[in-house]
Amino acid sequence: MRVKHHPVLKDLENQREVTIYFNDKAYKAYEGDTIASAMMAEGIKTLRHHEVSGKGRGIYCNIGHCFECRVQLNEKKVARACLTSVSEGMRIHSL
Ligand code: FES
Repeated sequence: MRVKHHPVLKDLENQREVTIYFNDKAYKAYEGDTIASAMMAEGIKTLRHHEVSGKGRGIYCNIGHCFECRVQLNEKKVARACLTSVSEGMRIHSL
């Protein structure tokens, strides 16, 4: 679900659309989205799996404190999805 009209962010149709890839599948996002907001808008809640239990993990605090939303960017860098803005062609992989 997406907020299409917002008093501060303005109307969604005025924002530039970008394509991002999560686990090699293409998704539509908008400039200004974080990875977390883009994935939530697409109905994806599991961003990684717990190292020991294997259970799905995702957004918890959404302000950068808990590190539950860690994802891998471009095969190297680990980033918090809730703090990282999307960009055209961004490749994101779950951990
Ligand atoms: S959800 Fe807690 S750091 Fe991203």
